[in-house]
Amino acid sequence: MLERFGHGGDLLTAQELFGIGAGSFTDLSANMNPQGPPACVASLLADYAQTIGHYPDPAARGLIHKLADHHGVSGSAILAGNGAAELIDLTVRLLQPKVTIVTAPSFVEYGDAAIKCGSAVKKLALSEEEGFRLTLQQVSDMLASLRAEGVGAGEALWFLGSPNNPTGQLSDPAIIRELLGEGERVVMDEAFMDFVPGAAAFSLLKEAAIHGNLIVIRSLTKFYAIPGIRLGYMVAIPATIARLKALQVPWSVNSLAQQIGEAVLGDEEYRRSTMDWLAEERPWLAVQLKRLGLAVYEGAANYILFALPQQHSLDARSLQQQLGLRGILIRDASLFEGLDERYCRVAVRFREDHIRLLEALKPLLEQG
Ligand SMILES: Cc1ncc(COP(=O)(O)O)c(C=O)c1O
Repeated sequence: MLERFGHGGDLLTAQELFGIGAGSFTDLSANMNPQGPPACVASLLADYAQTIGHYPDPAARGLIHKLADHHGVSGSAILAGNGAAELIDLTVRLLQPKVTIVTAPSFVEYGDAAIKCGSAVKKLALSEEEGFRLTLQQVSDMLASLRAEGVGAGEALWFLGSPNNPTGQLSDPAIIRELLGEGERVVMDEAFMDFVPGAAAFSLLKEAAIHGNLIVIRSLTKFYAIPGIRLGYMVAIPATIARLKALQVPWSVNSLAQQIGEAVLGDEEYRRSTMDWLAEERPWLAVQLKRLGLAVYEGAANYILFALPQQHSLDARSLQQQLGLRGILIRDASLFEGLDERYCRVAVRFREDHIRLLEALKPLLEQG
């Protein structure tokens, strides 16, 4: 199984499974910007030998300053971390919720972080009929069931993704504001929000800087294609940030990550070309997948969830296997709770990668 360690993008496991060199795959199993890291990253790497002998800035001041400028929030409302993954874990460790509510499907680390802290996890099942969008009705029903079980306002934690992984669906900010109005605590993982055109209308980042019950987590690894260095940040009111900092391992963000974060945030040209590429390629890929008879859930991010036809002899696992043997990696989305064996997820990449995928998919699907 490609997701042996729980996630996509595991090229060493792919090499073991499919007998192809790790560097030779067309990898659509990890949702990475295919443009690769911005050019500034290579020159920072070349110069890094001069700074590696010193400890990183424990407060990541340069990076926090850049992030504060970038988002127009106070630096005291921002904490940098060793990838969004660290911040997901840190948040739950700080908040110690009695109950954590996650959607099914959603990124597995929300529930895993909660379980590690001894929290009960309640699943909110997203429905295919609603296009896997979270509805106000579902939220109201969950609230009613929490209250019926004696879980009071602010005792539970809602851990949600927007865009959600693997569906790509955005959370409606109005629904989240309703929850906050009920005194609920909400963490929004906006790891893929940078890919969303007009993100300001959907993001809750600015509100998180002033609302005590809201935290927003962001990642720099996907948009800037730098997952190897691990870099993310979160926004919350300064008092919460101070408590999170106190729990965090010292020097959690290494100096190379800090330097790269500062540099990439200023690269407007990279941002523009990424948005142009995605505006062209996601709809194109979605249409082609539909033409092959797949049920496609396009979403707002740089990946597409699709389902194989009912009664097809291939399921997600066997499709992943067949494509893997042909040097193409996709995510078996049936491993996400809430999705059945028909679901797969592919990253949006370049046109030639899509053509390679489609050419491999077509005969496999025609076999019926
Ligand atoms: C929804 C979501 N949030 C967070 C992360 C972790 O991001 P990072 O690389 O910044 O730790 C991932 C990684 O796949 C993800 O899919």
